[in-house]
Amino acid sequence: KRPFGAPDKSLARKVGSVGVVGAGLMASQLALLFVRRLKVPVTLTDLDQARVDKGVQYVHDEIDKLLLKGRLSPDAGNRLKALVRGSTDKAAFAGADVVIEAVFEDLAVKKQVLAELEAVVPETCVLLTNTSSLSVSDMAADLEHPERVAGFHFFNPVSVLPLVEVVKASKTDDATLATVFQLGKALKKTCVLAEDAPAFIVNRLLTRMMGEVVTAVDEGSDLHVADDALAPLGLPMSPFLLLNLVGPAIALHVSQTLHGAFPDRFGVSENLGRLVAAGKPAIWSYDSSGRPFVDEETAAL
Ligand code: 3HC
Repeated sequence: KRPFGAPDKSLARKVGSVGVVGAGLMASQLALLFVRRLKVPVTLTDLDQARVDKGVQYVHDEIDKLLLKGRLSPDAGNRLKALVRGSTDKAAFAGADVVIEAVFEDLAVKKQVLAELEAVVPETCVLLTNTSSLSVSDMAADLEHPERVAGFHFFNPVSVLPLVEVVKASKTDDATLATVFQLGKALKKTCVLAEDAPAFIVNRLLTRMMGEVVTAVDEGSDLHVADDALAPLGLPMSPFLLLNLVGPAIALHVSQTLHGAFPDRFGVSENLGRLVAAGKPAIWSYDSSGRPFVDEETAAL
């Protein structure tokens, strides 16, 4: 059965080589997923060798975990590791069929990345963005071939969560969309077609839920009480744990995008803003027995 909104699969192009721009949290998880499911060469790039090495190391370590869990044979693990390459030069994408970017959430940075990609990839290469909330149409606006650009938005942890939002930008053509849907199927994901609207579908809902809990704390509720209050709903994770997983900086960025688009409907938490400005990667830490606590510095912010 054709997924909702997917064009005829006969239009899809074959994917024999993948590039990932960025080697951070989402990018390295994407590289792992692509190599594991497609078993094709996957090249990761980032600004410097240290970041590239960290991203490649993450993929190798996760493959080792799969070996330990008995889900891969040592031979298969070694073959997968050999397919993952790192580079600081986007020229490494010269033969790629698909490149996905998962760099910093800044429209200007992403536009620059797509322009650099367009200069090196083959004409048939599909260019994807894992943006959480930015306009894919704006990102592709200055390109020579905006028709080959689409959003492909994954959720953290990438290996576990089945959903991916496929974002059709104003100029995305059917061959690109069909390739993306076929890719999603090969990755064993459930793809939904999303409009190119601020924060698409899922992050609007998540931001609404997390935003309400964060606002309750901004207004004086105890952080743990506010977080625990939702536990009986049976969510897989409490709102603040989820905020920690997503990362306060990304959560803040999504809420700022939504506030910019719908100022009456979405606010931006002052506490979250202070936390991110202070460079805090999480809202709480864990003590040696695994109990969450808010450190004094964070509490004082
Ligand atoms: N990274 C990678 N894998 C992870 C992980 C992580 N941070 N946390 C857990 N996992 C894996 C484990 O290795 C395990 O894999 P296995 O079954 O293959 O061995 C599997 O997840 C289950 O882990 P656990 O049994 O330890 O834990 P849980 O059953 O409690 O599940 C969870 C953990 C999958 C994280 C679950 O709590 C969950 O689904 N939480 C909600 C996550 C969510 O909503 N994410 C969306 C965030 S929004 C986003 O990403 C979009 C962005 O644009 C903001």
